[in-house]
Amino acid sequence: MIPYVPLERRPFRLHMGLRPLEPSRWLEFDEDAAALRSLRARLIDEERERVVALDEPGRAPSAELLEVVLDHLARVHPERVAPIGDDHPLVEAARLVCEDLCVMVREDAWRLRAAVVCFPSRWDLREKIGATLREIHGPVPGYEAALGDPVDAFFDRIDVARGYWRLNWTLLDTPELFVPEGARAAPGGDLENWYFRVERQTFRRLSGSGAVVFTIRTYVAPAARLAERDEHFVEALVDQMASAPPAIQAYKGWVGVAERLDPRRRASSRPDH
Ligand code: HEM
Repeated sequence: MIPYVPLERRPFRLHMGLRPLEPSRWLEFDEDAAALRSLRARLIDEERERVVALDEPGRAPSAELLEVVLDHLARVHPERVAPIGDDHPLVEAARLVCEDLCVMVREDAWRLRAAVVCFPSRWDLREKIGATLREIHGPVPGYEAALGDPVDAFFDRIDVARGYWRLNWTLLDTPELFVPEGARAAPGGDLENWYFRVERQTFRRLSGSGAVVFTIRTYVAPAARLAERDEHFVEALVDQMASAPPAIQAYKGWVGVAERLDPRRRASSRPDH
């Protein structure tokens, strides 16, 4: 099951929600790690043009990142150390871990200069490579106003010695991890048709190049399983979805979903004869 269910008990809001990262917990491995590594290797080999994007300014920071990953594995997860090949250093690093890896370089603004993203959640990496943080988030309603300046300022301030992490979640109509595109229309269906998807994201600055490494570890669980495990899950979920601004609901593909899944509404609309 998934280790994080970040549903807040207050109305939905777009926020950074950053927490200090314990260095030994930068990368996460669990019982799914071996399967995830082989899925990632297959996607890198078979879908390379969609999961790998590399610009020249990202090369030196990627080489630095590979060294940092190897050093981290040797110290914290020695059982996960594996031989590396002679592909681009970011691709080699991405084969070793369960996280997707993005390298952000400070130029006129912070730009995405190298990425291996095997598990996108309905976005296309090819449209994001080379883009600034604001451009990357162009489709996210309210990002510019609520997060544009704070995220840029945060990236300027990240200290080599101190990383951060945050959680992001959504509800999707598929358990697939590789979801490069797809209509954001909310299909019908009951709890059984929905999957709760959590991204654990980390941010660290590399000491040599000064680039920022953004990692994304994706966890997916059937919503019905989470509802069995926690009697408050569905209520918290529908409260979050229903309190999100309509533009966010449309962006996330949630329009009408809260109403359909809400047990309070279902109870009141159920015919009693
Ligand atoms: C503190 C830093 C960041 C914050 C607070 C943030 C916040 C967000 C939020 C609120 C969304 C909306 C999607 C959702 O809630 O499910 C989003 C989407 C996204 N973010 Fe970030 N983000 C951050 C850093 C980054 C970085 C460094 C990248 C670099 C690749 C990135 C790439 C994306 C992408 C690709 C999307 C989907 C955009 C689309 O639909 O086209 N984010 N982000």
